[in-house]
Amino acid sequence: MTRKGRVEGRVALVTGVAKPDSIGFATARVFAEEGASLAICDIAEAVHACAGTLRETGVEVSSHTADLTRMDEVAAMVAEVERRHGRIDVLVNNAGMVVFGQEEDFTAFQELSEEAWDFGIAINLKTQFNVTRTVVPGMIARGRAGLIINTGSKQGITTPPGNPAYNVSKAGVKALTDISFDVREHEIRAIIGPNGAGKSTFLKLVSRELDPASGTLLLHGDDAAGAEPLLIHLSMFLVLDKINLGMKVVDLGCGRGELVLHCTRRGAYTWGLDYARPALGLAQQALKTVFAQSVPCASWALQQANASGALPFASGSVDVVFMLDVVEHLLPHELKAALDETWRILRPGGRLVVHTMPNLWYYHYGYPLYRLLQRLRGQHLPADPRARWKYSHVHVNEQTPTRLRRALLESGFKARVWLHPIQSYEYEDSRLVRVSMRALAHIYPFRWVFCNDIFAIGSKA
Ligand SMILES: NC(=O)c1ccc[n+]([C@@H]2O[C@H](COP(=O)([O-])OP(=O)(O)OC[C@H]3O[C@@H](n4cnc5c(N)ncnc54)[C@H](O)[C@@H]3O)[C@@H](O)[C@H]2O)c1
Repeated sequence: MTRKGRVEGRVALVTGVAKPDSIGFATARVFAEEGASLAICDIAEAVHACAGTLRETGVEVSSHTADLTRMDEVAAMVAEVERRHGRIDVLVNNAGMVVFGQEEDFTAFQELSEEAWDFGIAINLKTQFNVTRTVVPGMIARGRAGLIINTGSKQGITTPPGNPAYNVSKAGVKALTDISFDVREHEIRAIIGPNGAGKSTFLKLVSRELDPASGTLLLHGDDAAGAEPLLIHLSMFLVLDKINLGMKVVDLGCGRGELVLHCTRRGAYTWGLDYARPALGLAQQALKTVFAQSVPCASWALQQANASGALPFASGSVDVVFMLDVVEHLLPHELKAALDETWRILRPGGRLVVHTMPNLWYYHYGYPLYRLLQRLRGQHLPADPRARWKYSHVHVNEQTPTRLRRALLESGFKARVWLHPIQSYEYEDSRLVRVSMRALAHIYPFRWVFCNDIFAIGSKA
């Protein structure tokens, strides 16, 4: 076997390897070809025969049996691997779908027993939690870059009939992979794959992920701009607008491409438009790397465009347009042009989803009260709330809920506008102030003047 060495000296643990014609075996062999030391694991004794086959090609490989749905067996297996190899750099959570020697269960939901449900969730999702939870503390303690690859399935997105527990568990795998948010500060990344990956792309991704010096992969657009509020945004919007397979989605002002990524992952055809070339560059890098290996039939595109200019889409051709944190950057006549163009490209029944901040009612009424409260506590805040933020001058068209509603109606939309607080007020040192601000931002009628985030859905009748 020729060793290409892109993961030379790394230790990879691959689960679910009991057949030479399985995804787990192929993955293990690729890692071996690239110079990794291997540990393979399965519930079935046949894992040892697979290790024998791999050894014939000169690979250093240990084999382990464990029922990965059981934490005690996982703990023993991981400890054994670490004893043999010193550490684990790459974990491939691949076990699942079916236990060696058994048949896969294709029972319709209405006939599925509780046991079959629990079993499906356990072998596909719990196994991945158990092994990841056991391996990650060692990765963090050793302070080296680590990588976790979760084998997903397009069924977690497309959810075809007749396989409910599998579909739900693989959708769960997709969510579990977002532990990236918890562990990324330790240079540990979690990605979903390798279904559909070209071997070379997959390995390029793996070697790059393990070498922080070669550049950070923007899997979740995780830079200093604060990914967590963004995550809240994204989950809200994705739930809100039920982005589905085959939908045509446009993200106007796509920035680093997070929304394009999430919509494409859900099976939508997604276009990201942005005015700023550097943002498009970042988005391009992140999306290319992610979709090269995780969404084989991904359909996405990025393009430089001015939100208030002509949009490059046929009339009535788009299902959903997102305009997140764009409105406040467009002068009133630019906003009018952007809304008119959006209305044109949306199909009848299509929807525009908007988020904007600040809420001018907060600036005019809520903030002065907040400032007064802070003054009583001995803290001096500027009279103009904008003076607190470095970049507030780029907000050239701040909104109130009624102003935004009017703008949507004038462009022909049926409009629903509401306030929903996103801020957590974590910067407040007093718990009392934090809790009070959260309460005021949630409870009507105070919400109108204390909540700073405006949302809207404009429907094309
Ligand atoms: N084959 C496909 O078409 C396909 C498509 C999409 C995703 N996948 C995913 O790819 C992965 C591998 O599938 P495959 O097609 O190579 O199937 P496979 O049956 O060869 O591999 C799955 C292995 O996981 C092992 N396993 C199951 N439960 C286990 C447990 N509790 N503890 C330890 N090991 C356990 C099985 O014994 C088996 O050897 C699975 O996660 C599957 O969901 C497969």
